[in-house]
Amino acid sequence: MVIREIEDEDVDAVIAVWQRAGLTRPWNDPHEDIAFARRTPTATLLVLVSDDGIVGAVMVGHDGHRGTVYYLGVDPVQRGAGGGRALMEAAEAWLRARGIWKLNLLVRESNDAVLGFYATLGYGDQECRVLGRRLDGRADRTPLGGDSPSSEGA
Ligand SMILES: CC(C)(COP(=O)(O)OP(=O)(O)OC[C@H]1O[C@@H](n2cnc3c(N)ncnc32)[C@H](O)[C@@H]1OP(=O)(O)O)[C@@H](O)C(=O)NCCC(=O)NCCS
Repeated sequence: MVIREIEDEDVDAVIAVWQRAGLTRPWNDPHEDIAFARRTPTATLLVLVSDDGIVGAVMVGHDGHRGTVYYLGVDPVQRGAGGGRALMEAAEAWLRARGIWKLNLLVRESNDAVLGFYATLGYGDQECRVLGRRLDGRADRTPLGGDSPSSEGA
């Protein structure tokens, strides 16, 4: 398996893997997300390529302080073969090469199943709450102290 940066002709295959990995959400347009990351100088996408084509991908970037990853996914039929670890190690190396010394990432509360994977890779709970606010005027999740969650998230 090889890991390399995404190329134009990879985009549809990457989105197909993310769909099979359960990572896409109706409120996030993966084409737009990929295009935006690719034209951002401090972000990129790395793809995992096997003889079967693209079987995994991750978006990685930094904001001048911390690094982060989004959309880490490996095709369900390819899991357990080290692809997820290899993608995360490649993302970490990409950040380290740009002077970033810490990576934070988000895990949906509904995705407890992935916590064991990140623990194996040495990730720890940072004991922070994630707050967010949409900047495009659309409705957001539960207000602080509120009790009426909407369906939109990260
Ligand atoms: C998370 C994911 C990328 C892992 O991919 P993978 O290719 O199966 O992972 P690897 O084979 O590289 O596993 C790496 C290590 O983690 C361990 N591991 C993997 N999943 C695990 C789990 N759920 N619980 C505990 N350990 C786990 C493996 O045993 C392996 O350990 P080892 O290196 O000591 O042998 C994959 O399960 C996936 O795409 N999940 C759905 C999408 C998702 O949840 N993404 C993350 C969003 S935050």
